[in-house]
Amino acid sequence: MVSRQPFYFGVDYYPEQWPEDRWATDAQWMAEAGFNLARLGEFAWVKMEPVEGRFDFSWLERAIATLSAHGLRVMLGTPTAAPPAWLATDHPGIFRVRKDGVRVAYGNRRGYCPTSREYRAATERIVGALAAHFAGHPALAAWQVDNEFGGLCYCSSCARSFHAWLEQRYGTLEELNRRWGTAFWGQVYDRWDEIPLPLDAGSAPNPGLALDYYRFSSAAYREYQQLQISLLRHFCPDVPILHNFQGGFDQEELNFFELAQPLDVAAWNNYPRTQWDMRAEVDANRMALSLDLMRGLKRAPFWITEQQAGPGGWEMVSVPPRPGELRLWAYQTIAHGAEAVLFFRWRTARFGTEQYWHGLLDHDGSRSRRYHEIQQMGREIARIRERLTGLETHARVAMLMSYDSRFAFNVQGNNPGFSYPHHFARIYNSFHARNVAVDVLPPEANLEGYQLVVAPSLHVLPEEIARNLRNYVRSGGILMVTMRSGVKNEFNAVVDERLPGLLADVCGVTVEEYDSLPPDAHNQLDFISPELAGAQVETSNWADILEPRGAVVVARYTRDYYAGKPAITLNHYGAGFAVYVGTDGDERLYNRLSDWLLDLAGVEPVLSAPPGVEICERCRGGTRLLFVLNHNHSVQQVELDGSYKDLLNGERLRGQVTVGALDVRVMEQEY
Ligand code: GAL
Repeated sequence: MVSRQPFYFGVDYYPEQWPEDRWATDAQWMAEAGFNLARLGEFAWVKMEPVEGRFDFSWLERAIATLSAHGLRVMLGTPTAAPPAWLATDHPGIFRVRKDGVRVAYGNRRGYCPTSREYRAATERIVGALAAHFAGHPALAAWQVDNEFGGLCYCSSCARSFHAWLEQRYGTLEELNRRWGTAFWGQVYDRWDEIPLPLDAGSAPNPGLALDYYRFSSAAYREYQQLQISLLRHFCPDVPILHNFQGGFDQEELNFFELAQPLDVAAWNNYPRTQWDMRAEVDANRMALSLDLMRGLKRAPFWITEQQAGPGGWEMVSVPPRPGELRLWAYQTIAHGAEAVLFFRWRTARFGTEQYWHGLLDHDGSRSRRYHEIQQMGREIARIRERLTGLETHARVAMLMSYDSRFAFNVQGNNPGFSYPHHFARIYNSFHARNVAVDVLPPEANLEGYQLVVAPSLHVLPEEIARNLRNYVRSGGILMVTMRSGVKNEFNAVVDERLPGLLADVCGVTVEEYDSLPPDAHNQLDFISPELAGAQVETSNWADILEPRGAVVVARYTRDYYAGKPAITLNHYGAGFAVYVGTDGDERLYNRLSDWLLDLAGVEPVLSAPPGVEICERCRGGTRLLFVLNHNHSVQQVELDGSYKDLLNGERLRGQVTVGALDVRVMEQEY
């Protein structure tokens, strides 16, 4: 049984990159920042195993002892994201082959192939030795497996594993040929090893093959992860195991729901502003969506293994976080369900690729403005630590994120202006910006208890998922689905029914024709449902021309040859409703729809607040905490619905309260 953990506040630390006589100062300053956890080791394979099969953990023991002496516990990372040069030189085949057929070179991190036998053998050796060595260590609080899984591989080892995976999935080649429809272009396969990989080189792959390659790749990483989990569990059965997922909602290649399943905790690395995204203004909705996905991965609190600590940069230096932002962003993660926040990194590196990826200490080892800001947060956390674990978000709205659909859209985007993640995020924003909590779940999730469920462009739709949605609506739920839903079966073949295929019955509508709009072309909607009457909203990218089969019309198109035809419908089904939205649009469309649907579903915002002020509610038993996060650069006012105590400064609050620019209030309701 994995033990329950306290709230952790801490930092990512690389003692191997600094002189040992500095470690004690580092540990002392960490303690002074209020830190109780440091993550170590995830890039130190060569220090742990300098020569094949010869291990040296003594330096790590001394580093842990120094941290322990200052009251910190440690999370150890297995070091497999960055293999030693000797391993790379002796076994060049461990590296991934990219989609363009080129093998990744040694020098970066995250270059290995997840199916490589040699890499798996080396992994078992180092992870086994590390786990055995630190088993039972009193300072060990958690394991992190590897670092940021990602990167699909197209090497010959992956080809062999893919063929075995396909054989397992389809049983016979007849079945595979039938499901993929290989009669098209005469691609019928007679031997498993004839099946190609979806490479760039001249290939416009069969959609069934391409989707299966994504699924196979997630399965390959999951198998690789399991290798490590099994060893860690064997030696340290009560230490929680997590992985730090890269990219959050923006990640496009791996099915995080599947990878998170065998872990004890999901974790995310949160960089609101980096050299790759130089916006001066950070989009709080975008971070919130990734955080809600993290909470949805295991329907449980999660950890932040890397939280931005300063300007991020490899070649460029990103816009530095303004005073207040680091603390605000870190509190936002807690507001959405983080039970640990670790800042990346402690001291800014003097050497290596990440010289400009700033930590809390500057290059010269001095404490920066950023350190002092986080130290302030550390003092606050020390006061409220007990209250920050075991909290739940009681979301009434769920949004269903389908990795299969996302992968299918990666293969065939359908329309150049349409993007599944943007479409999803726009709808999400229309709830989040109103301070309505959203759970982001896989489409097969149990939907009981949700008052509103939104399934954007559920493109790949197996029968079990259609059944899940039908049952939800039949028993009184309100469902919204959007265009391009129900188009594909689970093999990424287009269904042989009128669209939206398996959802036509619950939505009471069929798609008679569709219009894929060129860039900059728009249609317009005329809402005719009484609650929405009078509104005119522009649409773009896509237009399903609908034929109601029992549904009532909510909005019609006003332009083009299908002017007057239905675009949005509502159907009574069992005890609930299903809304079909046949078109895409900007925030005006989704704001209007979410106002209407929230009203229909009886879902209220936590509190209403000015734009840019985010309010999240977290509950435990009879305790209700509100996190009020002001993402604006100006002071804002919020009207409270009762009496509260500000846990950070002890103030009693009721009526109208102010929240400073880029400031936070954590309030507990008083009864
Ligand atoms: C993360 C990674 C860290 C560090 C950071 C800055 O994605 O896990 O090790 O590289 O990015 O680039």
